Amino acid sequence: MADSDAAIEALSFEDRRFPPSPEFVNHALATDASMYDDATKDREAFWAKQAESLDWYDKWSTICEWNLPFAKWFVGGTLNVSVNALDRHVVAGKGDKVAFHWEGEPGDTRTITYAQMLDEVERFANVLKNLGVKRGDRVNIYMPMIPELPVAMLACTRIGAAHSVVFGGFSSEALRDRINDAEAKVLITADGGYRRGAASGLKVNVDVAVKETPTIEHVVVVRRTGQDVEWSEGRDHWWHDLMDDSALEKHCEPERMDSEDLLYLLYTSGTTAKPKGIMHTTGGYLTQVAFTHKYVFDLHEHEDIYWCAADIGWVTGHSYIVYGPLTNGATSVMYEGTPDFPDKDRWWSIIEKYRVSILYCAPTAIRTFMKWGTKYPDGHDLSTLRLLGSVGEPINPEAWVWYWNTIGGGRCPVVDTWWQTETGGIMISPLPGVTTLKPGSATHPLPGVVAELVDEAGKPVTVGGGYLTLTEPWPGMLRGIWGDPERYKETYWSRFEGRYFAGDGAKLDDEGYLWLLGRVDDVMNVSGHRVSTTEVESALVDHPTVAEAAVVGANDATTGQAIIAYVTLKAGETGDEAHGQRLREHVSVKIGPIAKPKTIVFTDDLPKTRSGKIMRRLLRDVAEGRALGDTTTLADAGVVEEIARRAATSPTEE
Ligand code: WT7
Repeated sequence: MADSDAAIEALSFEDRRFPPSPEFVNHALATDASMYDDATKDREAFWAKQAESLDWYDKWSTICEWNLPFAKWFVGGTLNVSVNALDRHVVAGKGDKVAFHWEGEPGDTRTITYAQMLDEVERFANVLKNLGVKRGDRVNIYMPMIPELPVAMLACTRIGAAHSVVFGGFSSEALRDRINDAEAKVLITADGGYRRGAASGLKVNVDVAVKETPTIEHVVVVRRTGQDVEWSEGRDHWWHDLMDDSALEKHCEPERMDSEDLLYLLYTSGTTAKPKGIMHTTGGYLTQVAFTHKYVFDLHEHEDIYWCAADIGWVTGHSYIVYGPLTNGATSVMYEGTPDFPDKDRWWSIIEKYRVSILYCAPTAIRTFMKWGTKYPDGHDLSTLRLLGSVGEPINPEAWVWYWNTIGGGRCPVVDTWWQTETGGIMISPLPGVTTLKPGSATHPLPGVVAELVDEAGKPVTVGGGYLTLTEPWPGMLRGIWGDPERYKETYWSRFEGRYFAGDGAKLDDEGYLWLLGRVDDVMNVSGHRVSTTEVESALVDHPTVAEAAVVGANDATTGQAIIAYVTLKAGETGDEAHGQRLREHVSVKIGPIAKPKTIVFTDDLPKTRSGKIMRRLLRDVAEGRALGDTTTLADAGVVEEIARRAATSPTEE
């Protein structure tokens, strides 16, 4: 529809409806409910049909083996992920097609075709082999957003090693713990990366981390910034030295992997202080990410220029920068930097430059752009865009409508996609040529996905609020937590019997639309990144001056939630601004800058029940400026009033 207002059919705010426009439907891959019908009729057969679009060496004998809560998909099937992502496109004559338009900082660019990707992946796979990496080993990756990152991941898949990517914004301690949990043999990194035009260091963090990682035998370093780095002879190797070695074999025969072989580990925060190594396997995961990437984004392989503006260090990047798009033979944009450098129009200039047609990003980014104003997008030609996606946190209707109008020009469906590190791929989302959209709703489970809201007692809810659960296995589901099968059962399958509990609250309206409300556990969502309250609390109490700490997530207009810490200091310590700054730095060193509290409130005491439990609910009330809820269960009701007084004057950091 040309005029966005014309698409607004209903009057009241939450009832605004955006049906797919005739122009979009004319060209869309899915335009009716037939996929939903097929999946309802026979869910397993539906997924098997999707799996058939991959290249398999041996076909599976059983589609799904479900031994609640343990699933196996495409049992007996064998395949190789790098072959699906690269070789088959090259074999089909598409070797010259661009896989990535890489836009780097400060202004570097690189265009990489499928044939070039394959060549680099094969060579780097041989490099890994020469360093002693074998099928079944784990390889850690700690890199900026440069093309060598997907090359490294795919090289692992070629030889059957599992990768464990650690986001480059994590600290050396966080890196060390993840390496040790995965018992990785090799670590791939870079000297540093660029942020807002300035070089930052990664190798320095690696040097600290690997002092305490007994399993690491080799460190491979990409020269990205040219900064000085320390070097440990025998252990450290330059990427370019290994890759340019004339003795290096060019061809690397792909390993035939079992459908259920481990593809990767990705660590995510939960309600305890120890991050969980989420396990994803080969056949089911690739099936789901390829299917969802194609149909949720309505990918037209030969026409679209697709850009997922996430970092590969998170699951969004794994599934929708690397595995989904490459398996589908898409041309993607990959961007190294931030939206505000060299100016606040960087994204829009990238879209104009590469003629991007599909954009996938997080509500935090959208709200930030709203704050900056329309002058930045208005200065660029965004007319190539035809579909917009959102992920990572609930998108508020205002942001949704702004995205629709200002970025999408009122033409582009906005697909709000709900999923998690654990689900591997998108689970709840519109199909853009089929679903009538409502701003702020992720609408319905995709074909092949069965979700249900339940109440406290686990009874299904048909209209109203409840806990989001998944009732049937899906191909991309996590297969467990690395090294801890019990924790897998306990974390996801124990709250409601026979159901996967995602940790999210949601609401169903009277037309069966799902509205995600956010986490109902002690997990915060800051700018679409998952941060554990417990992890931040442990980091704070680890500081020598801190006696006790309680952390809550408070609503924040830009980042979704902001981290607010209430800290009791040891006797004799003063809680001034400088002290707050030291504690923030400490959290940054322990976990990473994303976990830094925005506000630190120093207090002599924390509100506790008579049994000594910290009442976070009250702290959230304080943080969000609400009237205090019921305080009758508190041991000392005066404490929380004192905290509210102090919170009003505590310094915050943007
Ligand atoms: C949590 C998962 C999925 C990749 C990025 C985050 C929240 C995610 C949405 C959405 C509302 C969302 C949930 C979920 N979330 N997408 N469209 N609407 N909430 O992955 O770090 O594993 O976090 O992000 O709370 O549980 P993650």
